[in-house]
This record gives sequence, structure tokens and C-alpha cells, in this order.
Amino acid sequence: MKFLLLCLLSQILGRFNRARAAQLTLPHFVCQTPLFMPVGTQGTIKGLTNNELERIGCQIILGNTYHLALRPTFELLEEAGGLHNFMNWPRAMLTDSGGFQMVSLLHLADITEEGVTFQSPVDGKLMLLTPEESIHIHNRIRADIIMALDDVVKTTITGPRIKEAMYRTLRWIHRCIAAHRRPHDQNLFGIVQGGLDPVLKDICVKSLVDCNLPGYAIGGLAGGEDKDSFWRVVAQCTAALPEDKPRYVMGVGYPLDIVVCSALGADMYDCVYPTRTTCFGTALIPERVLKLKHRAMADDTQPIDPTCPCMVCKNYIRTYIHCLVTKDAMGSQLLSSHNLYYMMRLSRNLHTSIVEGRFPKFVCDFLQTMFPKGD
Ligand code: GUN
Ligand code: ZN
Repeated sequence: MKFLLLCLLSQILGRFNRARAAQLTLPHFVCQTPLFMPVGTQGTIKGLTNNELERIGCQIILGNTYHLALRPTFELLEEAGGLHNFMNWPRAMLTDSGGFQMVSLLHLADITEEGVTFQSPVDGKLMLLTPEESIHIHNRIRADIIMALDDVVKTTITGPRIKEAMYRTLRWIHRCIAAHRRPHDQNLFGIVQGGLDPVLKDICVKSLVDCNLPGYAIGGLAGGEDKDSFWRVVAQCTAALPEDKPRYVMGVGYPLDIVVCSALGADMYDCVYPTRTTCFGTALIPERVLKLKHRAMADDTQPIDPTCPCMVCKNYIRTYIHCLVTKDAMGSQLLSSHNLYYMMRLSRNLHTSIVEGRFPKFVCDFLQTMFPKGD
């Protein structure tokens, strides 16, 4: 057996119907699920120091091999002994394979059986990322969790391309497994593709489960499909995935999606939304969002969220952040800090409410606050 199953959900600490609260033991950190992973691109979460991320309660940060391989370059990372050492991050880390980023960010990407061909944004040269090369890069970066290279298509397209991408993803997982040189300290997760088609999803989940991987991700979502289809797919996948392995819904999400997906049995999430939305002056609050650019904020002397115990809400008022928000990087940094705190607090509350047997009340209160008129 090639795989040492390092990151079994070693201990499920509590359940409510399909929701689970668990402890996930990774080489660099013992994590509590459900959990949210902030997205860093070039080895940083914009504007936040590692100390701050730890203080906020961040357990895993996410990096993209594609960005990291371009800058600082993976040779430099290898020389530093991996990304953990390079950026001095003591807790867990996950790296995505890069295929998704290339396809979604670069229009010039071309996918064939061999791999993803793209034009380097650094020098314009054509480069081919194969499943083997992608794993090779992951192995040099040394994150605790590494994502297999997948063939990603938008959920909103239809036709034979979805089937082709799903079967190619399955062929590629075998190439990823064969190329993986660090199964003892890096957990390779497979990614379920197949669009919104229940038959394709079912084939994909079953084939990945046969590979006995340390964890599984549900991919290809959050691409503009309606919530009903999105939640239905998550429900179908979590029902078919093994109980004792982590389930990661990629690119999700909004606080509401995280609550719903956790109720459906998902454990891990990542999304750029909480940090990216700060550019527009948006803060996450239990009532949904607060627009700090709005004129009404100019003389509002409350904290962003009076119920939030974060550093920003303890020290600053809305008026101050309103003044900063378009004029100084500090505005967006303070908002990122609060927004990530909000996501970490939400994850912690999901975890403890499941462990303490009050998950239904937590979900009801969350929905009541967010949708007081039931809309
Ligand atoms: N990030 C968000 N969705 C996806 C996906 O389907 N595949 C990969 N590799 N990354 C993602
Ligand atoms: Zn706050």
C-alpha cells in the first residue's frame, strides 16, 4: 500500500445528522473542522502578518503552485526547505494544482491529454503543466495537503466537454498518484468533477474513492450555477464519500454556503471573497454585509460589528474605516483582518455547536439574523 493515510479525520468529535465536527491531524497542525482557509497567492494573505493570522485563528492557508512557481519560483522555495520555512508559517498549508488558475485566469490555456499548456505571463513562453510536473512542484513546496491536477470546466456549460473533463480528471489522478514522492508527509486530495450531472458525479466520486486517497474535494462549483443545483451536488457527493476522510468544497464561499455545506457534511472551504471584497469596502457582519464606502458610514461611530471581539472592532469605528477605505491600504487591511476573523469565528461556532449538540439552534439563529424577513 503506497499511501500512508496521514490525514484521516482521526476523530469525529460530534455529529448532527450529516454535519460533522472533527479533528484533522496534519503534519504541521491539528485542525478543527469545519474550517475555512484564506487564500494567499504569492505566499501571503494580503496585508496580514503571520502573527495576526495565527491570532485570528487561521489553521490552514492556501497557496497556488502556479503563482508560487512563477514567483518566488519553486527552486527558491526548495532551497528554503519548502514554503513553510520560506514564509515562516508554522501551521498547515494547502496548495492547489494550478490547472484551475490557468484556465480561469489565462484565456490562452489549452488542455490536452498530456496536460495544460499555457503562455507564461512572465516571458510569454508556452509551458506545459502535466499531472507529473504539477505533483513535482507540490513536492518541492511541501504543503500538508496537495491538490491533484484536474480538468476544470465551468458548471454553466453543457455538452460532451463535461464528460471529457471528468474522465480526463480520473485518468490524471492515476498519473498524480504515480508521480507523488512524499505520501508520508503530503496528503494528495482527488477532485470530483463532472459538472452538475448526477450520473457523471457518481462515476467520478466512486472512481476517486477506489483510489483510497487521504481526502476528497468537490470541484467545479461556485462558477455561477444556481444555489439549488450547487447544494444538490454537494449533498450527492458528501453522501457518497467515505465518512472518515475530509471533504473540501473548493472555491466556496459565502458564509451562507459554508453553513449549508457543513450541514450537508462538508468539512473544508476556501474563497478569495472575504479578502477580495475589502477592495470595495465591504465588511462581513451577521446581518450580511456592511458597505464602508457608503455615505452613512461617514458619521457612524460604532465598530464594524458591535458583537465582534476582533482587534479591528475593539479599536476602530466605522467613520475611521470609511475615511481610509479608498485612500489608504490600511483600510483594506483592517477590513481583511475583520473579515477573516468573521470566517474563523463562523468555523469555530459551527464546530462547537455540533460538538455541543446545538447545531440546529445555531443554524436557525444564523439564518434569522441574516434573513430577518425570511427573504
Ligand atoms: N478552485 C475552485 N474550484 C476548483 C476546481 O474545480 N479545481 C481546482 N483545482 N481548484 C479549484
Ligand atoms: Zn471585527
